[in-house]
Amino acid sequence: MQATKKIDQVDIHLGDRSYPILIGLGLMDDSTIWADLPAATTALIVTNTTVAPLYGKRLADTLRTRFQRVLVLELPDGEAFKTWQSLNLVFDALLSNECDRKTILFALGGGVVGDMTGFAAASYMRGVPFVQIPTTLLAQVDSSVGGKTAINHPLGKNMIGAFYQPLKVVCDLATLHTLPARELAAGLAEVIKYGPITDPVFFAWIETNIDALLRREPAALAHAAKRSCEVKAAVVAQDERDHGLRATLNFGHTFGHAIETGLGFGQWLHGEAVGCGMVMAARLSQQLGLVDHGLVQRLTALIARAGLPVRGPLLAQGNAEGGSANSLRYLELMRTDKKSEGGEIRFVVLDGLGQASVRPAPDAMVRAVIDASCV
Ligand code: NAD
Ligand code: GLY
Repeated sequence: MQATKKIDQVDIHLGDRSYPILIGLGLMDDSTIWADLPAATTALIVTNTTVAPLYGKRLADTLRTRFQRVLVLELPDGEAFKTWQSLNLVFDALLSNECDRKTILFALGGGVVGDMTGFAAASYMRGVPFVQIPTTLLAQVDSSVGGKTAINHPLGKNMIGAFYQPLKVVCDLATLHTLPARELAAGLAEVIKYGPITDPVFFAWIETNIDALLRREPAALAHAAKRSCEVKAAVVAQDERDHGLRATLNFGHTFGHAIETGLGFGQWLHGEAVGCGMVMAARLSQQLGLVDHGLVQRLTALIARAGLPVRGPLLAQGNAEGGSANSLRYLELMRTDKKSEGGEIRFVVLDGLGQASVRPAPDAMVRAVIDASCV
């Protein structure tokens, strides 16, 4: 990938918590990007053992032009480490280095690092500023934007967290060059998500450009990141705290979170679980009479072309009352979903291409969809 000066900017409008999302190649080396940050002596880069050797020194060198002290903390890598214990390592670093409340945290990595660093920033001294520097496609198109921060609990995904917005998001597309192919595909799940729920034109664009995205062509990645951030920024601006509209961004996630929790965090990547979850959610939409089979097939084909699984894993074997033990296990896991109300699971379903809503569905129908969708 060639470095270029072109920077796309998407603004997220949240009153005095508004911020820009900058998208371009080679942004990490551009010290002018940090010029407008609030005055502070210390920057703490929170990253992990995989990303630190790739980009830690580069970012630290750039930040040294702006901060007297630049600290780097390497967390263990992986969804399995999105835990209270890892979060505490951030507090250990902040306290042992006597970091004051002006200290700025820089989340350098994928969604796991971003979500944990954001939560640490939300809680340290009741809130210190932070910046997102997402280095996976998934983080650039979704998790770094919108201020959802969290850690996992063994009983549920992202169950402990806070809404806390960053000062800015800096998406350096050049970092995607080192991303493993499986992780790139996982990120494409979240890109694909925006089409069926909000934007038929973008959905068709992804269908046309999926091979260019898989080849990591810079222009295709830049468009995918920009359009994804535009959609997400517009939704978050209307419903920052997830009271209604924002829940539609969770298309595929109710099934997906059950897969992640049921298999154990880290077995399937988040994006893989979401990809497969979107197939299940589309099938449920069809069963509810909201969309036709053609749309389900179209979405399934695109998810498969992205290299993502379209059939769910078995989370339990054998039979149970009312159907398979597997579908019962999915239901049990989905009841802890944050959209559930009074024990009733609520699903993001498609009302057509580009339209989504949140609705309950009969258990028997959900179980039939799961049974028809699992290997
Ligand atoms: P991740 O953070 O685990 O990163 C994936 C892997 O890629 C890791 O091994 C990481 O070290 C490595 N990596 C990161 N950047 C790299 C690079 N440039 N080159 C090589 N390797 C690199 O996973 P993810 O897919 O980025 O994020 C998933 C997480 O995001 C989940 O925990 C999910 O719950 C969360 N999420 C949050 C939101 C939100 O709104 N906050 C939205 C979607 C997902
Ligand atoms: N990824 C879903 C949200 O940010 O609301």
